[in-house]
This record gives sequence, C-alpha cells and structure tokens, in this order.
Amino acid sequence: MLKEFKQLKQEYPDRILIASIMEEYSKTGWEELLTALSKLDALEINFSCPHGMPERRMDAAVGQDCALLEEVCGWVNAKATVPVWAKMTPNITDITEPARVSLKSGCEGISAINTIMRGYSYKAVRPIALAKVMNIAQMMKDEFNENDCSLSGIGGVETEYDAAVFILLGSNTVQVCTGVMVHGYGHVKILCAELQDFMKQHNFSTIEDFRGHSLQYFTTHTDLVKRQKEAIEQRKAERRGLKSDKDWTGDGFVKETESMVSN
Ligand SMILES: Cc1cc2nc3c(=O)[nH]c(=O)nc-3n(C[C@H](O)[C@H](O)[C@H](O)COP(=O)(O)O)c2cc1C
Repeated sequence: MLKEFKQLKQEYPDRILIASIMEEYSKTGWEELLTALSKLDALEINFSCPHGMPERRMDAAVGQDCALLEEVCGWVNAKATVPVWAKMTPNITDITEPARVSLKSGCEGISAINTIMRGYSYKAVRPIALAKVMNIAQMMKDEFNENDCSLSGIGGVETEYDAAVFILLGSNTVQVCTGVMVHGYGHVKILCAELQDFMKQHNFSTIEDFRGHSLQYFTTHTDLVKRQKEAIEQRKAERRGLKSDKDWTGDGFVKETESMVSN
C-alpha cells in the first residue's frame, strides 16, 4: 500500500478510503495493483479517461469496447476483496451498455461520468452527466437488484443543489472534481453542510428518503407523443377547445385559448 494511503488510514481509521485506479490491458498488471491496494475499503476502476493510452488499451479504450470491458472486469473482480465501481466514459452512444456489462461482470457499482470530448468538465457537462446518470439509474432499477449495486454521480457539481439533483436521479454518492479545483478542498465541507440543510428543509433524514425520486418523471419522446395524442382525443370527446377557426368569438379569446392549453 502506498505511504500516503497508510498515513490516511492511520489518521482517519473510521473513514472510508477509496482509490481510483487505472492499468493497461494486462491481467498480471491489474492483479499486482489490486494486491498492493488490498487494505483499502473500495476501488474505482477507471475505464473512462479520454487521455489514456488507447494503443495500450487503457481507460476509455476499454470503456468503449464491451468485450474488453467484460474481460478486464472479470480479472479485477476475481481478485478484488473489496467493492469495485467501474467508471464510465460519456463518449459512447449508449452508456447503459458498458454499465450493464460491468455489473454483470461482478462490479458492485458504477461511477459516471468522466470528461466529455477529451476534457470538458464542470458546468459545461452537467446536463449531459445528469442524463447519463439517469439512464444508468433507470437501467439498474429495471434490470438489477438495487440493494446489490450502487451509482456514483459525477459531472459539474458545484452546489448542494447540484448534488441533490444527482441523488434525485438515483445516485447513492456524488463526486466533485473541477468544483474542488475551482473553490479549494474546503468546498467539500461547505457542500456537505449545505446538503444537510437541504435535507432538513425537506424533512429528509437519509439519502434514501429522496434518492431516485425524480426518475418517475422521465419518459421517452414516443411516450410523450402518444400521451399528447390521447389528451387531444379526450378533449375532443369532452368537446373542449374550438372545433374550427370560425368558432372564435372575439371577446372570449382568452377563455377559448385557455381551453386549448395543456396545463
Ligand atoms: C484536470 C482533470 C484531471 C482528471 N483526472 C482524472 C483521473 O486521473 N482519473 C479519472 O478517473 N478521472 C479524472 N478526471 C475526471 C473527473 O474525475 C470527473 O470525472 C470529470 O471531470 C467530471 O466531473 P467534474 O465536472 O466534477 O470535474 C479528471 C478531470 C480533470 C478536469
């Protein structure tokens, strides 16, 4: 174990220490790394960095290739004695595919996302990160036992509100990278305190009280079009709204318009 990890464990024996690691496409390389880190509490295995060495099949080169990913996750999980999260790249069409493969290959959790397009982070990626996290959370809910796996949301977190939104979309934990580079390490304490205030305001005593609550409000474009069609049919049946432009009365313009809005 690295000197710094030993020191951290000695200073904070009651805290969780997680290493985020990467290695090239080498079974023995991964096994040696895992042996060296076996005293940590959990590991995040990085299949997501856009700056990795694709020629050595590292990082995003693995995260973008489900067959390689399955093989490497298999090596790691056969050796690891602590929980393992696989970190996903957003630079892929459907992020649920590598997330699913990682969970099926024995990982306990998924972290998402790394930077977009070789380096965009922070506010520039937040909406995309939220969409990717939402996709993974929905997939986990539909296909896995939620108590057996967890999701770590990353991308553009700067305030407690940003963190709460990731949790509302299903994240069990939230990570901050660029936010800390901008505001300093002290920002972590502020974020934790403000998230606790947010929870008090909403009468939440645990993260589980609101985790994933917003997933129910997401749907597909096809479903929205179907529901819109059904609503129009229902209005027609109830004879609400105008049947023809000839029916506008002039003075009744506002009421007649309101009878046709959707909310
Ligand atoms: C300068 C910089 C260095 C990074 N280095 C790593 C790294 O070594 N390993 C890794 O998994 N992610 C790395 N990341 C990605 C971040 O951990 C994070 O996934 C991404 O930046 C999105 O989160 P953020 O908006 O909070 O920064 C790095 C990001 C930046 C900006």
